[in-house]
Amino acid sequence: MSARNSRREFLGIAAATVAGASLYGRSAVGQSAADVPALLGGMPVHKGNWPAWPEWRQAWEPSILEILRSGKWYRASGGTVQQFEAAYANLLGAKRCLATASGTTALIVAMHVLDVDAGDEVIVSPFTFIASYNAILLMKALPVLADTDPATLTMDPASIESRITERTRAIMPVHIYGMPCDMDPIVAVARKHRLAVVEDACQAWLADYKGRMCGTIGDLGCFSFQNSKHLPSGEGGAITGNSDDMLDRASSFHDCGRAYGGFKGARPNFTRGGNFRMQHVQAAMLLQQLEKLKQDTARRRENADRLTASLTEIPGIRPVRLPENSRAVWHLYPFRYDANAFQGLPRETFLKAMRAEGIPCSTGYQEQYFDGLLDEAIASRGFTRLFDAGRLKAYRESFQELKGNREVCATTVAFGQNMLLASRADVDHIPAAIRKMQAHGAELAKRG
Ligand SMILES: Cc1ncc(COP(=O)(O)O)c(C=O)c1O
Repeated sequence: MSARNSRREFLGIAAATVAGASLYGRSAVGQSAADVPALLGGMPVHKGNWPAWPEWRQAWEPSILEILRSGKWYRASGGTVQQFEAAYANLLGAKRCLATASGTTALIVAMHVLDVDAGDEVIVSPFTFIASYNAILLMKALPVLADTDPATLTMDPASIESRITERTRAIMPVHIYGMPCDMDPIVAVARKHRLAVVEDACQAWLADYKGRMCGTIGDLGCFSFQNSKHLPSGEGGAITGNSDDMLDRASSFHDCGRAYGGFKGARPNFTRGGNFRMQHVQAAMLLQQLEKLKQDTARRRENADRLTASLTEIPGIRPVRLPENSRAVWHLYPFRYDANAFQGLPRETFLKAMRAEGIPCSTGYQEQYFDGLLDEAIASRGFTRLFDAGRLKAYRESFQELKGNREVCATTVAFGQNMLLASRADVDHIPAAIRKMQAHGAELAKRG
């Protein structure tokens, strides 16, 4: 810092100290404005913007224009989608990849291929974006919720076996926020009971578990390329896997049931299917961002490691534990918050005060199984035909018995992935702001 800057900063702080002190009386007397929480009239820790998302580069435009000018816009009339599929499979070390219209449609196609049918049950992590539940419901199957491990925020593998019934067809672990689930015990229980594993890797591009990429460990993996994602194309998705038979079936089902590769279906040309195809313009956007994805991932990891090292030192802040020999990609960076270590400062006020410091943050997912979506589904004509009343009653009651998830929903705080692309100095503002909250918890709690 130059002498001029430090003097300017000193004068600013001194002026603000007076204002803070006069606004907040004794609590702020003798403190610089930088020490006073912004919510109480002090200076915010972080004043600039955080990196914008998504990013577009002019250099990417010619290949998009080329597609637009060619008039070859849809999958069957050009090669860009296929090029992206080959490149993405190669990046992940998967044998095959099929691009789809979205992450949700990737999940639907994957479940169809793995023979999840009406009246089946799929065991899924409750702590996830609602699309994981919805994809199962759209198959007219029941999303059966596993427990959540509060240390990892992912599915507790030890809870899976007790959820298995004669209807269970598949397990859907979700690598939430790009944090790998503990896949070894999940795959082991699936193999033991002859269940399929569909990885919801919609937030986990390049996350790895014991040397393998998330999305290539179960039978099929599903990804999302929606606007907020680390590899965005507005909308888009992909299925990855190592079985030609499964990927041929997936290709067929996603393309109106056309015969594909070794899969001919029941009829000579068409079998059951929908239209879940990706367009070439989307694929061109994705292809050009693959290098950037690798670079961004390295940067997010570096900043996340730095953040974890600082946050571990703060009482009442618990960063997540990752499975051994695994690396997350941090779609969000979460930690668990203990209000007791912050003089009783409720999480909602903590969030508000952090935002006032210029640090955007949010809660994680809520206990969405109580929000009515699942009630509506299981009360529907289809579900009441497919499942007997006793099963649906027990299913509804099981939400109350879920372990770990309530605690996780009540205590998680998360930062967006774009913040991990900022400079180290900016990322250091996060623990600095949290320490400020800790020093002023009681005053902030009163302010509400
Ligand atoms: C965990 C998870 N599963 C599924 C999806 C669905 O992906 P899409 O929005 O591309 O349909 C998302 C997207 O946000 C997600 O985060």
